[in-house]
Formats: sequence, structure tokens, C-alpha cells
Amino acid sequence: MYTHLQRDVSRPPVTLSTLARMKAEREKIACLTCYDASFAVLLDQADVDVVLVGDSMGMVIQGHDTTVPVTMDQMVYHSATVARGLHRPFQITDLPFMSYPSKDLALAHSVRLMQEGGAQMVKLESGGKQTEIVEFLTGHDIAVCAHVGLKPQSVHKTGGFRVQGREQDTAQRLLKEAQQLEAAGADLVLLECIPAALGKMITEALQVPVIGIGAGPDTDGQILVLYDMLDITTGRKPRFVRNFLEGAAHNNLEAVQAYVRAVKSGEYPAPEHCF
Ligand code: KIV
Repeated sequence: MYTHLQRDVSRPPVTLSTLARMKAEREKIACLTCYDASFAVLLDQADVDVVLVGDSMGMVIQGHDTTVPVTMDQMVYHSATVARGLHRPFQITDLPFMSYPSKDLALAHSVRLMQEGGAQMVKLESGGKQTEIVEFLTGHDIAVCAHVGLKPQSVHKTGGFRVQGREQDTAQRLLKEAQQLEAAGADLVLLECIPAALGKMITEALQVPVIGIGAGPDTDGQILVLYDMLDITTGRKPRFVRNFLEGAAHNNLEAVQAYVRAVKSGEYPAPEHCF
């Protein structure tokens, strides 16, 4: 019992209480995605606070054009490999496309991600109907991250990977959705691809920590897809991506350390990374 107490006490594991304290003390939360044990060990060494086993895996590892083909079994497999490499960072794992169409399926799949995949929190693309699902999961003491803004699992319905909330009415809807998700018990909110001003407004309106990707400099933390910031992915990258292997870093560890420093100091994201 309490085996983490037997590990390196100078680096206690990040918990939801740690993240709440960081928001209160305005210490930026540095997050990255990860899909395997080797990179998990490296991210831990670099003092990344939160690691997300994202369904972006479908695009950067599996070579699909979207995250839609990713299955539950694949998420469980990659989540478990990442969990084996982590000690300090808090681990979130994505519920993949259509794994949470009902409360019962969402619960059964969250249990798999936690029991077989070692996740400490599950993330689901949220708003509207999913608010009830978030309430159901958190009512069962499952830690939940609500993903708001650009929702990659819905790209075929919404017409592509586009910045969300540019217009006054959609910005108001996203703010309201984030507040409803917090009221439903969401412990963390992730904002993807929204104007920086809206990122600031939502972050200030919520008590829970808010992590942004392409959501401006004022969210409580930042996240990037690991393979984007290490420049492993080819082709045109989104505006918010910065290549951290460029410049002073000589290897992957130094690049991730540079990212953590840039997030903590507020140097990343710069105006050219924002909408
Ligand atoms: O799957 C993923 O990588 C994500 C990003 C938006 C962080 O959800």
C-alpha cells in the first residue's frame, strides 16, 4: 500500500491537488503527449507535469488522417506502455472516438483505461450531450478532463481542423459549455484551437486548471503533441507548434527540457503561436 512513498521522495508524483496549487500560485503546468515507455521515461526526466496518451496517436504513430480510427484496445495498450515509464507526471488517457456514447459505455471504458492502462484521469471531447457523461463519471470518482474547442473526433461533422470560437456567439457557447462541464465535476479542462482572448476568458472563469493547445498564453498550462515539438511529424504544422529541437537543444531530452522552461517562464506560446 502507498508504494509511491517508497520511491524518490524528492520528486513526489503530481496529483490533482498539485495542479490546483499550481493554478492558485500561477505556476504554469507543462504538459506533453506521449505514446510509449521510452519517451515516457524521458518526459519524466525532463520534469513534464502532465502526460497525455492522446488519440493523436492515430495520426502521428499510425499514419491516419484523423483520430477517428483509433480503438479502445489500442488506447489501453499505449496507455499501459506509457504508465510503465512514468513516476512523477500525472497521466491522462483519451477515451477514443465513440467509446463514450452512453454513460455505461463511458464508465466501462474509463475503468479499462485506469485498470489496464494505468491512467489517472480520462479525457473526453465534451460539450452538449457529453456534460451528463462527465457528471456520471465524476459521480463515480473518476477524474475527468473535458476537451473543449476544436474536437478532432468530430472533424468529419464539423468540416475540418478549424479554429473555434472566433465569432461572438460561438465564443459565448464555448464559455458556457466549459462552465457547465466544471459544474458537472470536470477536474481539468483542455482548450484546443481558440482565440487567445477566449482562452483567457475561460481560464479566468473556471476554478479548475485549464490547459491550452493553440489557446493563447493565459491558460494555466500548455500542451503540445510530442512529435510536433520534436519536429518528427512532417508537412505543414499548425500555427501554435514550435520546434524545440531547433536552437540550443542537442537531443530529445534537452528539447523537452527547453519546452518545460519555455512554458514555465511564459516564453511559449509567443504571439506568433496564437490565434
Ligand atoms: O490527442 C491529443 O493529442 C490531444 C491534443 C489536443 C493534446 O487531445
